[in-house]
Amino acid sequence: MSSQDIPEENLPAAQDPSHDVEGIADEEHPFADPGLPPHEHRVQDIDEQAARRSERVVALLFTISMLATAGFIASFVSIPHDKSIFVFPIGHISALNFALGLTLGTALFTIGAGAVHWARTLMSDVEITDERHPIAADEELRAKVHADFKQGAKESVIGRRKLIRGTMFGAVALVPLSGVVLLRELGPLPGTKLRHTRWSQGKLIINMNTNEPMRPSDITVGSLTFARPDGLEEHDEDFQSEIAKAALMLIRIQPENIKDKRELEWSHEGIVAYSKICTHVGCPISLYEQQTHHALCPCHQSTFDLSDGARVIFGPAGHALPQLRIGVNDEGYLEALSDFEEPVGPAFWERG
Ligand code: FES
Repeated sequence: MSSQDIPEENLPAAQDPSHDVEGIADEEHPFADPGLPPHEHRVQDIDEQAARRSERVVALLFTISMLATAGFIASFVSIPHDKSIFVFPIGHISALNFALGLTLGTALFTIGAGAVHWARTLMSDVEITDERHPIAADEELRAKVHADFKQGAKESVIGRRKLIRGTMFGAVALVPLSGVVLLRELGPLPGTKLRHTRWSQGKLIINMNTNEPMRPSDITVGSLTFARPDGLEEHDEDFQSEIAKAALMLIRIQPENIKDKRELEWSHEGIVAYSKICTHVGCPISLYEQQTHHALCPCHQSTFDLSDGARVIFGPAGHALPQLRIGVNDEGYLEALSDFEEPVGPAFWERG
C-alpha cells in the first residue's frame, strides 16, 4: 500500500503538511522547525580595532610560515647529513631530519592556523538556511549562487585586507619550494657512468656458472651462456651495480644464419655476445629459443631476434640489445675487443 492510499488522519506527523511549520515545537506541532538562533555579533564585527588585531595575527601566522619555509631550505643546504642531535625523549636523531620536519611542519601548520583564525574572526559568520529542492538548478538559482559567491568573496575581506592577502599568497607560494629543494636528494646526475661498463679491449669473458674463461668450443649451437668480464668478482663492493651493466649473454648461430652484417663482423665463428639487460626497463633476459634465435624478456615479453642485430620483434622495448664486439686472444680464450658502443639497459637513458 502506498502513502497515497492511507487516509490523511493516519499519516505520521512528519508526513502531514500541517505539521511543517516554523517555530517552537509543542504538543500540537511536535516537528516544528525551531529555526536558527539569533545571530550574535563578534567583537571584530563591531570593533574595527579588534578586527585589525585579528588581521595582524593572521598576517603574523602567514609570515611565520614564510620564515619556516626559508628555514627549511636553509637547513637543507647547511646541515650535514651525518650530524645528529639529542632530542628528549626520542634520543639521538638526524639533525637534518629534525630541522626539515620542524620547519616544514611549522610552515604548513601556520598556513592552516592563519586560515582558520581568518575565517573565525573576520569572515562573515552569518548562518543562512537553504531549503531542499531538486538537484538540477534553474536559471534563477544559478544567478543566486553566483551572487552569493560574489558576496562571500566580498565578505571574506580578501579585497579589503591587503595585508592578509599579500602574506597568504606569499606563504602559499613559498611552501612548494620545500618540495623543489628535495629534488637534490635524487642524487647527482649519472653523467657518463651509464655509457661505460667493465668491458674493454682484451678483457676475458668469464662464464658466470663456472667462473672460468671460455674458449669458443665451450659454446655450442643453441645454448645460452651468461658471462661477466674478468676482474669483476662477486665479493666486490660494486659488483651489483657493475654486473647490472656488464652482464652478457653468448649464443652460437651458424654464420650463414646471421642476417645482420655488423653482427657477423662483431662475432667470432658465429658466437655473438649481447647485453643481457632488457632495453625496456632493465630486466635480465633469460629465455632463448634455439629454432628462431629469439631471446625473450620475462618481465613484459619483449622479444629480440639475435640473428638480426637483436632488433625488437615484439613487446615494449624501444631498442635492440647492444652487441659486444668479441674475438679470441693468443691463448685461444674469448675476449672483448672493446666496451659496448652504446649504453646498455633501458631505452630512457637515450642513446645520444
Ligand atoms: S623489462 Fe624487458 S620487456 Fe619490460
